[in-house]
Amino acid sequence: MCGIVGYVGPSSALDVLLGGLKRLEYRGYDSAGISVVTNGEIQTQKRAGKLQVLIDQLSASPMADAQMGIGHTRWATHGAPTDGNAHPHNAGAEQISLIHNGIIENFSELKKKLVSEGIEFESETDSEVAAHLLASEFANTGDFEKSFVSVANALQGAFTILAINKSDPGLVMAARRNSPLVLGVGDGENFLGSDVAAFVDYTKTAISVGQDQIVKLRADGFELIDFNGNPVEHEEFKVHWDASAASKGGWESFMAKEISEEPQAVGDTLMGRLDANGDVNLSEFDGLSIENLENINRIIITACGTAAYAGEVAKYAIEQLARISVSVELAHELRYRNPVIDEKTLVVAISQSGETMDTLMAIRHASERGAKVLSICNTQGATLARESDATIYTHAGPEVAVASTKAFSAQITAGYLLALFLAHATGKTENLNQLGKELLSLPRKVKTTLEMTGDVAEFANQLKDIQSVLFLGRNVGFPIAMEGALKLKELSYIHAEGFAAGELKHGPIALIEPGQVVIVLVPAPSSAESLHAKVLANIQEINARGAKVIAIAEQGDDEVAEFAEKVFYTPKTDPLLSPVLSVVPLHIFSMELAKAKGLDVDQPRNLAKSVTVE
Ligand code: G6P
Repeated sequence: MCGIVGYVGPSSALDVLLGGLKRLEYRGYDSAGISVVTNGEIQTQKRAGKLQVLIDQLSASPMADAQMGIGHTRWATHGAPTDGNAHPHNAGAEQISLIHNGIIENFSELKKKLVSEGIEFESETDSEVAAHLLASEFANTGDFEKSFVSVANALQGAFTILAINKSDPGLVMAARRNSPLVLGVGDGENFLGSDVAAFVDYTKTAISVGQDQIVKLRADGFELIDFNGNPVEHEEFKVHWDASAASKGGWESFMAKEISEEPQAVGDTLMGRLDANGDVNLSEFDGLSIENLENINRIIITACGTAAYAGEVAKYAIEQLARISVSVELAHELRYRNPVIDEKTLVVAISQSGETMDTLMAIRHASERGAKVLSICNTQGATLARESDATIYTHAGPEVAVASTKAFSAQITAGYLLALFLAHATGKTENLNQLGKELLSLPRKVKTTLEMTGDVAEFANQLKDIQSVLFLGRNVGFPIAMEGALKLKELSYIHAEGFAAGELKHGPIALIEPGQVVIVLVPAPSSAESLHAKVLANIQEINARGAKVIAIAEQGDDEVAEFAEKVFYTPKTDPLLSPVLSVVPLHIFSMELAKAKGLDVDQPRNLAKSVTVE
């Protein structure tokens, strides 16, 4: 969380910084601020609220432009979202200005020391200690670069810090430990950002700054060093998407645009990995040789939020196809419960951003215990990919709306590819090609589903005053019920819970009272072990208690219409693959309900897209 941008070069720093912050606002939107150096003085403007509040302030009282600067959009950890707690933080009588993403764990001890030396603090943030520490080091040594290195070494916890100094306006210093930072390489100008979205308008050449590295950024070049001041190697990569991919492009919200891109996200994730016969080719597995895979006796999938539900779907697919035991663990739980992990465990980490701190901590823990780590990740150059033995990239393109939609569809798709690959690798090839071919038809079927769910908006509008929604699903429908509930909570602030339909009679049925809205994911009539009949029986049980049932069912399943107030149909597919289709109406439903309530669907309250603190 928190978006960070830095710039040195001939362009308008205000344009670069505000444009970068706009693209990074998904990382946090409690407050925003920028600092530049003009005429040898630091100028800072910062305001609580969304970036637009700062932009309005800059229109009302413009500041002189500059050729360098730093910008920050905040997701509050220490201290409320106020003007005073907004970044940048200045220190040393406005000598330096600093922004921070992360949590400085030893801030209280550092603060006590600084206060005892007579330094006055203006904010309640942990970040301000870094600014005062830097100013006081610089006052003692007169060497900004050395002072910055020394501060990076003094801080504990998670931080990306960027700092500028009014005496050297051609330089931005940056340090990274446990928080993301990428460098954009331009022609006569250079950039820093929490991710490439910060500068993709200006350059597509990027470098992922490694753990415990420091960047000295100037217009005509840059240097990367470690925390001891020694030069470090770096590797450039190319960003594969255009700035237009991260803009609304005429849609009323990023979420609406991203839901409409679900077919493409699925198609692009499959592209080049599945041939027309349904044979899978995952060259990404080079880092995990077949010998390693042969030794694997269990898989742990780890992730947070929506990504964890994609992991649950992957569990059904891997166990069904490859017959390897799989468990899905929330990353923050896995890390701290001393799990049984050894060199025979394959840990699969799923993350859109590749920067979720809980997920990173879980894979580090697993690697230390000898496990191989495979990641499913949507962001090039992300820490997760760098720290994994192999990575299957989901090609969903940039996802800007805080609530994940198209990335979720792409994660599930990558999970199917993984299941097919593992089934091949372990010789369980029966019916695989048929399933592979069906997988190839999914992008078209997702598109059809979007076309079939045109009236969700009207329906959501009728339900805008409801207080609670329950979601029921079974088998692969269970994680989709959980995802439907999560999305509704995130976007509409309505109480929503997902349950395994079979669990209904063991407790949740007590929640059913007349008028309770229940959304039921109905398994296809062809689904294994007549789950269809069992879920229809569940629907009757809740109908009998006055619930209002909305069903998501397969096209041609006329029986369900007899028991549900409304049915959203999805095209026929293999039951294992149905989640990619059945989630579509749920994504649209939560977006439309939030819109009907007048809420911001792209930036729901209290959330951040990329949670880079534990
Ligand atoms: C946050 C976001 C969720 C997301 C989760 C995992 O909680 O609000 O939408 O699912 O992080 O994010 P990741 O980037 O690891 O997929």
